[in-house]
Amino acid sequence: MIPESFIQELLNRVDVVDIIDKKIQLKKAGANFIACCPFHQEKSPSFTVSPSKQFYHCFGCGEHGSAISFLIEYEGLSFIEAVNELANTIGLKVPNEEFSEKININENSKLEEALKIANNFYQVQLRKSPKAIAYLKSRGLSGEIAKEFSIGYAPEGWQSLEAAFKNYKDETLISAGLIQKNDQGRYYDRFRDRIMFPIHNAKGIVIGFGGRVINPEDTPKYYNSPETALFQKSYELYGLLAARKKIRDNRYALVVEGYMDVVALAQNGIGNAVATLGTATTLFHIKKLTRYTDEIVFCFDGDNAGRTAAWRAMNNSLSAVTDNVQLKFLFLPNNYDPDSFVRENSNDAFRLLAKEAMPLTEYIIKYLTQDNDLASQENKVKFLNDLEPIVKQITAKKLLLLFKKRISQLVDLDIQEINQIFKIKFTNDVIKNPTPKSNRIPMSAIRRYCLFIILEPEIANLADQEMFITEKIDDQLARAVIEISAGEEKKNTASIMHLLSNRFGQEIIIELQTQLASFDQTMDINKEVDVLRLSIKKKHSTASKKIVLEQIKQKSLQSLTEDEKKFLRNMGKG
Ligand code: GTP
Ligand code: MN
Repeated sequence: MIPESFIQELLNRVDVVDIIDKKIQLKKAGANFIACCPFHQEKSPSFTVSPSKQFYHCFGCGEHGSAISFLIEYEGLSFIEAVNELANTIGLKVPNEEFSEKININENSKLEEALKIANNFYQVQLRKSPKAIAYLKSRGLSGEIAKEFSIGYAPEGWQSLEAAFKNYKDETLISAGLIQKNDQGRYYDRFRDRIMFPIHNAKGIVIGFGGRVINPEDTPKYYNSPETALFQKSYELYGLLAARKKIRDNRYALVVEGYMDVVALAQNGIGNAVATLGTATTLFHIKKLTRYTDEIVFCFDGDNAGRTAAWRAMNNSLSAVTDNVQLKFLFLPNNYDPDSFVRENSNDAFRLLAKEAMPLTEYIIKYLTQDNDLASQENKVKFLNDLEPIVKQITAKKLLLLFKKRISQLVDLDIQEINQIFKIKFTNDVIKNPTPKSNRIPMSAIRRYCLFIILEPEIANLADQEMFITEKIDDQLARAVIEISAGEEKKNTASIMHLLSNRFGQEIIIELQTQLASFDQTMDINKEVDVLRLSIKKKHSTASKKIVLEQIKQKSLQSLTEDEKKFLRNMGKG
């Protein structure tokens, strides 16, 4: 392991501004630096880098972190690689490096290695199998495209992978999802007699497979790798590695449902498509794609299943919509999927459909009015009821306003009335069943105080530490912040955040960072903290007084100690 103290030293010594400025050009803006965000497409800069806090934050896409996380996100480095790169820039040697490499990378690298070997093996097998080649040909795929997507073939036998691995019974092959063990303890290949589509991550590493049957009577038609340490379906998109550049060039991404669709589109000159892996589109998928483009076109089959999938994708991705990110919906004519459509028509015809795809809000209205003519008051009420949960998830200000305006026209109300209807219902809902927001951090005085200390660790002092002990403040996060910041070693914002993330996990950190970034930069933090100290002390001493008072009340007058009598006399004065 890399010692934590080293990471701290590193974060204190490198300058996040330098690190980021080497990769993208930063411009000075007041105390901070700004640029167009490298993690999503935008025209005006909302990516800010703070030299004092030593971290970056994008107000557009929410991406944020320290110098280390920047390298991880931007360069696709692993944690250890990022630490190494940073250490190199200031001539530091990472202590205990070999050891840490072994501990941290070993597990994943074994899986990676196994998947890579299997992928090579499957590709070789494809070249040897006339049946598999003929199948791909019958689906209109050329050898070049098969090569570009590293498509392979898993042979028919039960233990074909024995030819590829020295130790077929290695546990790694099981954890990689390549082989399975039956109840009798027999080991066998997970994928047999299937066309193999390797799934790559952003670094180009194979993290899993999708396998399609060749014989139409075999089931299931598609079989995927299980979720492993490397592969989580709700995060990954098939074809993203190959499509990234094309998505940037075309300025939009196509999201389709199948592996074959991605490959067939690429075969026909449409390279900006990715597919979800047999799961519904998630917010993570959208966030991933908005790093490369601000327009996403969902493409669905024109059948019932396609319509259901579209509505689900819409619901899952609503909160990712901003006034800069557009979602659109393309519905193919009935009985077509992208693969068959592009093959029977042309890529121009497909592109035209993509260009004319339905914008999000239009799609929502169209969907909700397909069985609702809005002719009666009751139908309008139903329409408003259907819309309400959707409207409430839209945070894009301009889009929301225009959408509400459109809704108001459809039901013959004005926009104030729409606001009123949705708002009144909303407050009722909140009272009736308050939504549990477990990982939202309430901005109590203590939390606010902590955030300021994280911003300006120098403000923390020993008296603060005492205050937390004597007032028995048991907010764990707050205590940790005080402990860390009032420690001997000098800390900056990034290094405190790093220590906190070790203790409390990433979720709290993400929340803290978002709140930090939203603070007004021009605030007089010293003054704010003074006020907060007073209010914390006051609140907690009243609370503890109450407790003592309750204890005293339980006692008879005779049994009171001198201190307790004094306490009662002071209470009377106060
Ligand atoms: P082709 O028949 O090869 O053209 O595939 P398709 O993409 O047209 O198939 P379909 O529309 O049926 O499926 C779309 C996606 O859903 C596939 O790419 C798979 O990811 C997933 N899928 C389909 N069938 C199955 C199945 O039987 N099991 C699993 N796990 N996933 C499936
Ligand atoms: Mn198909």
